Amino acid sequence: MRRVLITGGAGFLGANFTHYWLARHSGDRVVVFDALTYAGNRTSLAAVEANPNFRFVHGDLRNAEAVETVMGEEDIDLVVHFAAETHVDRSIDDPDAFVTTNVVGTHNLLRAARSLWHNRPARDTAPRFHHVSTDEVYGALRPEEPPFTEATAYAPSSPYAASKAAADHLVRAYHRTYGLPTTISNCSNCFGPYQYPEKLIPLVIIHLLGGRPLPLYGDGGQVRDWLHAADHCRGVALAIERGVPGQTYNLGGANERRNLETVRMLCNLVDEAFAGDPALGRRFPDAPAANRKESTSLITFVPDRPGHDRRYAVEAAKARCELGFDPGMDFNAGLRETLDWYLTNEPWWNAILDDDRYRSWIAAQYSR
Ligand code: TYD
Repeated sequence: MRRVLITGGAGFLGANFTHYWLARHSGDRVVVFDALTYAGNRTSLAAVEANPNFRFVHGDLRNAEAVETVMGEEDIDLVVHFAAETHVDRSIDDPDAFVTTNVVGTHNLLRAARSLWHNRPARDTAPRFHHVSTDEVYGALRPEEPPFTEATAYAPSSPYAASKAAADHLVRAYHRTYGLPTTISNCSNCFGPYQYPEKLIPLVIIHLLGGRPLPLYGDGGQVRDWLHAADHCRGVALAIERGVPGQTYNLGGANERRNLETVRMLCNLVDEAFAGDPALGRRFPDAPAANRKESTSLITFVPDRPGHDRRYAVEAAKARCELGFDPGMDFNAGLRETLDWYLTNEPWWNAILDDDRYRSWIAAQYSR
């Protein structure tokens, strides 16, 4: 039995991972530590709240004492660190929270893990600190360049990416300097259930259903490599189980798409879903698909994001060879499954649309 701390477990990837882990390690104690910022959502954990092995702690990584208390109280031996400010657009408008949460918060967690595990007698399972990071630390790729590998030099473009790069360096330094048993995974763009609708895929789904414009930055020709959340969870679990302390593993989806193509695929899936189920037209009367129009009619090109990285992609060969990682989900199938999840879980995202924090953010986006 392991005692697991999942930071950011009420966020998109953290919630997916919490469900993934509890479903496969039912005897483990799982503690979610989450500040419930705008992107954290306790209802994403509703299915595990009654599990006696699960505990939710409302806490902020920026509070070193709170971090030390939960680590000590629960005698944690596996940290899976998802908590982060993650949205590039927000980091451009207001970088401060990115430095305090992503850099200082990660350091608080590292320090607490070091102090707890230092000189701790050996147990059945060795302690591990797994840090979840992003491909954005490597900067942008030109069209002809091969995907980033673990040896690519860091060259972050946005304040978000720079804060994650700084956190990665701290994690590595704690391994080198203090021998903390760390692993890092850098993943490509993830999508799937529970994703906050500021990110491209859920934003497009929700706008399609509400008949609102689909804002494509610049010419829509930016390329992202997409990885389904379930594949990401498997990659992180493999890095924990089979990864070597001190190592980094890139978790790529081997699935590069231009944004325009991704948005068109979603439009087609929505048109198909409405054609196959007349009830959808009644539930979402403002959707073009409910009015015999093509969903692509909503595509709207808007001014580009400052410093927008044209392309990123990571090479997952190391994770494939050393961990047995294989991102199995077909992109179209993953998008369809994600669309189904948003169609089935309308109350989950309607509560976000009704939240003043979302309303003010979206209003600011469209007043630029
Ligand atoms: P996003 O989901 O914000 O992730 P990231 O910035 O981490 O890659 O954006 C994915 C891509 O989609 C990125 O190239 C920006 C673009 N994008 C749009 O064109 N319009 C939008 O409204 C959003 C949110 C993103």
